[in-house]
Amino acid sequence: MLKTKIAGIGMYVPQHIVTNNDLLKYMDTSDEWIKERTGIKERRFAHRTEETTTTMGVEAAKIAIQNAGIAPQDIDFIIFATLSPDYYFPGCGVLVQRAMKMKEIGALDVRNQCSGFVYAISVGDQFIKSGMYKNILVIGSEKHSFGLDFSTRGRNISVIFGDGAGAVVLQPTTKENQGILSTHLHSDGESAEILAMYNPGTHANHWLPQKLADFNEAEIGDMFMSNSMVDKAQNFPFMDGQSVFKKAVIKLPEVVIESLNANGYKASDINMLIPHQANLRISQYVQHQLGLRDDQVYNNIQRYGNTTAASIPLALCEAWKEGKVKEGDLVCLASFGSGFTWAAALLKW
Ligand code: ACO
Repeated sequence: MLKTKIAGIGMYVPQHIVTNNDLLKYMDTSDEWIKERTGIKERRFAHRTEETTTTMGVEAAKIAIQNAGIAPQDIDFIIFATLSPDYYFPGCGVLVQRAMKMKEIGALDVRNQCSGFVYAISVGDQFIKSGMYKNILVIGSEKHSFGLDFSTRGRNISVIFGDGAGAVVLQPTTKENQGILSTHLHSDGESAEILAMYNPGTHANHWLPQKLADFNEAEIGDMFMSNSMVDKAQNFPFMDGQSVFKKAVIKLPEVVIESLNANGYKASDINMLIPHQANLRISQYVQHQLGLRDDQVYNNIQRYGNTTAASIPLALCEAWKEGKVKEGDLVCLASFGSGFTWAAALLKW
């Protein structure tokens, strides 16, 4: 039976390291608070003008493609997961196609925030298993630093996010002991607004009034982003961290167990769990719930912060480079984030 394997993996993080102490210049926080509540010691910020979500994704993709032993022109489909695209539209997928001089292949953008990479892997898996494509490039990349509120008002969010990118190449395999075994995708839109960036968006019709004639020029001006939205900080992400935390520690173990049950495994069979890197305390809680040892869970949030769609491929790539993910290993990727959305992929490396 045709399955999907990860044939190549790559990552890219910007050179610029931002420590917790560096953030003290902008907001009332402390190295102690950030380390204790999140485990984060430092994160990377992309170059303000020279690096974008796409350029970082391309750097990660170059390595993944090289590791897979193919050329960019061999890629027959692109899936790009991000919540911080270069443009509101078009998506980053087409920008990768252009930057890497690929053929006129399909390019799909996935908007599932922290679950974006696992959702993207799941989509790619279906295309490979159906025989439609043979070399799919999946990228998760984020440039969070472009749009965070670095004043004290935004400190509960801004201290956790960082920039970076990870990429994989998916290919078919017929090997018994290799490939994606199953993927499990979930959502619950009831809590959509508790972790969200509201604007720009069409939700409240406040960008433009319904009848322009009813408003004078100043009032219309006030409805544009440059005024009221920015004053209310609605152009920055909003998060009720505690509610997210409480849900994450229930749904993450649940989806991991769902993936294990679907394939006749138990938690102790996992060689490596790669949880979304949202908060070290969440990962530790999940590890405890599943009864896993330290060597069965990989975390690198300490060095990169929460890189949303990039966090799982960044952690997977580092775990692989350190020899902690080897051929035949049972690997579980699990994520939870805005939406809420949560997901898992169980695979044999
Ligand atoms: N520095 C210092 N103090 C702070 C900071 C900061 N950076 N941020 C908040 N505080 C203060 C608050 O003002 C509050 O003070 P008070 O008690 O005087 O009112 C106190 O610290 C506690 O604030 P909480 O927000 O309750 O802190 P909590 O322990 O919940 O930690 C955190 C916040 C780290 C955000 C945590 O809730 C968390 O990790 N939540 C989950 C995040 C997550 O998983 N997100 C999903 C992925 S992101 C995505 O999908 C885009």
